[in-house]
Amino acid sequence: MRLAGRDLVAIEDLDRPAIEEILEAARALVPAAEGGSVRHTLEGRLVAMAFFEPSTRTRLSFEAAVQRLGGRCLTIADPAATSLRKGETLSDTLRMISSYSDALILRHPNSGAARLAADLSDRPVINAGDGSHQHPTQTLTDLATIQEACGSLVGRRIVILGDLKYGRAVHSLIWALALFGNEMVLVSPPSLRLPESVRQRVRHLAGRIREEDDLATALADADILYVTRIQRERFPDETEYRRVAGSYRIDRATLEGARPELRVLHPLPRLGEIAPEVDPTPHALYFRQAFLGVPVRMALMQSILGGGA
Ligand code: CP
Repeated sequence: MRLAGRDLVAIEDLDRPAIEEILEAARALVPAAEGGSVRHTLEGRLVAMAFFEPSTRTRLSFEAAVQRLGGRCLTIADPAATSLRKGETLSDTLRMISSYSDALILRHPNSGAARLAADLSDRPVINAGDGSHQHPTQTLTDLATIQEACGSLVGRRIVILGDLKYGRAVHSLIWALALFGNEMVLVSPPSLRLPESVRQRVRHLAGRIREEDDLATALADADILYVTRIQRERFPDETEYRRVAGSYRIDRATLEGARPELRVLHPLPRLGEIAPEVDPTPHALYFRQAFLGVPVRMALMQSILGGGA
């Protein structure tokens, strides 16, 4: 699959060889992502970062990726400073931004905003998170982290804990893990279970999904624990949020019964769901995961804009 000039709206836009190619390129780009060598693959390219929702990792790692490859960025980090405030439509706004740049990286609270942008734009559009729909570049980062930790993306047992209803990172990740034939064990508060629509999307793939109520049982022979934040901003009703807030927390005691090789990932930001006392343990991989967002997004941008792998 050639990625040059293509959109990335959902993780399904990538087939398995394309994902493997991006991950391989990302591994080779780690020294450049660390600032150790200079690449010029995106020299002369201008990439728009249109962030209509808060972000630290996704926006800054995309900006770092583009600039480490010699490209430049146009950035909207505060939607209140755009003409949306004057009543301009999202469609018109996206058309403008797209015409000023060679590619558009979009984060928006509405599920489907990235699809809208891709339909309007004749430049590549990359979904940096749309509502509770998908976050495909987070998934590429997650896969790179799992591969680095486990050596292989195939046949792993991965516990996914937290808000499986509203979590867009999970909705993308589950598809990719199923594509690579992994076993997923889902642990969540009952009101935040995985939507049936996501389950249906992966039914034809090799991976297997089961639910487990008891986290300790789920962790007993797991390779990866993927923890997520409860997505407060997606709840239609604050009372519903308060009912589940703080209902799970990973600390050293939680991990005592797990395998020493268990690695803990989290797309971040975290609130209280992983205690800081876990950070210095060999289990904690979430800060490495956040760093790997840079070489992964470098590899993706090279593939889409630079003509590289
Ligand atoms: N993981 C993630 O999407 O983080 P940000 O919201 O900080 O971009």
